[in-house]
Amino acid sequence: MTTRRLVLTRSAAVIGAASAGLLLPQIVRAQSDKLRVGLMLPYTGTFAQLGKAIENGFMMALNEQGGKLGGREIEFFKVDDEANPAKAIENANRLVQRDKVDVLVGTVHSGVQMGIHKVARESGVLNIIPNAGVHMATRAQCAPNVYRASFSNSQPTLALGKPMMDRGHKKAVWITWNYAAGDEAFEGFEKSYTAAGGTIIKKLGLPFPNVEFQALLTEIAALNPDAVACFWAGGGAAKFLRDYAASGLNKNIQLYGSGFLTEGVLQAAGPAAEGVLTTLHYSDSLDTPRNKKFRRDYVNAFKSQPDVYAVQGYDSGLLLLKGANAAQGDLSNKKALYGAMDSAVIDSPRGQWSMSPSHNPIQDMYLRQVENNENKVIGIAGKAVADSGAGCRMA
Ligand code: PHB
Repeated sequence: MTTRRLVLTRSAAVIGAASAGLLLPQIVRAQSDKLRVGLMLPYTGTFAQLGKAIENGFMMALNEQGGKLGGREIEFFKVDDEANPAKAIENANRLVQRDKVDVLVGTVHSGVQMGIHKVARESGVLNIIPNAGVHMATRAQCAPNVYRASFSNSQPTLALGKPMMDRGHKKAVWITWNYAAGDEAFEGFEKSYTAAGGTIIKKLGLPFPNVEFQALLTEIAALNPDAVACFWAGGGAAKFLRDYAASGLNKNIQLYGSGFLTEGVLQAAGPAAEGVLTTLHYSDSLDTPRNKKFRRDYVNAFKSQPDVYAVQGYDSGLLLLKGANAAQGDLSNKKALYGAMDSAVIDSPRGQWSMSPSHNPIQDMYLRQVENNENKVIGIAGKAVADSGAGCRMA
């Protein structure tokens, strides 16, 4: 992995060779022969583990196919976006303008994605989204060069309402972080839960990445709903699970969530996560040869258990491979590149998924329950769930 320091050192070597009047053509050619891949992910903060899992999965996919893209060697450039929307445009431009990447893979946080999106649309650089579900990226502001390999924020919760009502939970409180991911997860929840006949009695929220849940848990106890539904992820999810159980609410009020709630946090949450029901496009326990092989190989390579984020990173790699291989490594051949990515069917550990016309996965949603510290699949909550893609007009 090329760090910023290495990149700067290499630039210095080029300048040194130029001033000496030596070897410059060879050096420049050797450099441009490599395909430049930028990773913009959170490596610090509440979403740090998510960023690392995505990077691991992405590298694994490339390494499985010889560590090359369309026959070309790869040079990597990394930026820690800290899940900080205020620095998003500047960080994306470091990769696009300064490092001149051929593709930008990122990111996790929907607010940061909005900044990447602006830079991607203005520059035309290929952007593969390995997590952030922000709707506009594949709805009103969809773009030919922007592809998502993960989900849209309302996809998991579009599958959540019915299982809640099937279990007789007719009155629910919704709780989340107040930013695009939480707001849009609510959109899916509201639609599916009210369509199934449920009533949402209150919406509660906190600013991202705040985790002071106590006052809100007290309010939930007073409201006494049949169920609580939520969106939390990463470090915030682990803390919410622990605080919910510590407050005793888990004994009487069933907790549901967009499945990120129980991804990558089961060890940290311990018994507090037992029994929690969620919907998501992946589960550790999917009993398929594809998933089992992926999990075995990931554990061997990284000595840690993969989660949905690792799968999305891996699928981002598979998607990029399809495009780059079709274009024989020349990402300026948009016809071949986009043609292959538009028609991609990805043989993923999550199950096979295809790319929608607005560039978002069409995929199954699983109903999962935490049992003995594992996400167990207990049913299919939605077959071939697609985002609406509302307002998308590909230029
Ligand atoms: C988002 O901000 O889009 C987001 C972050 C973490 C998740 C899911 C979505 O687990």
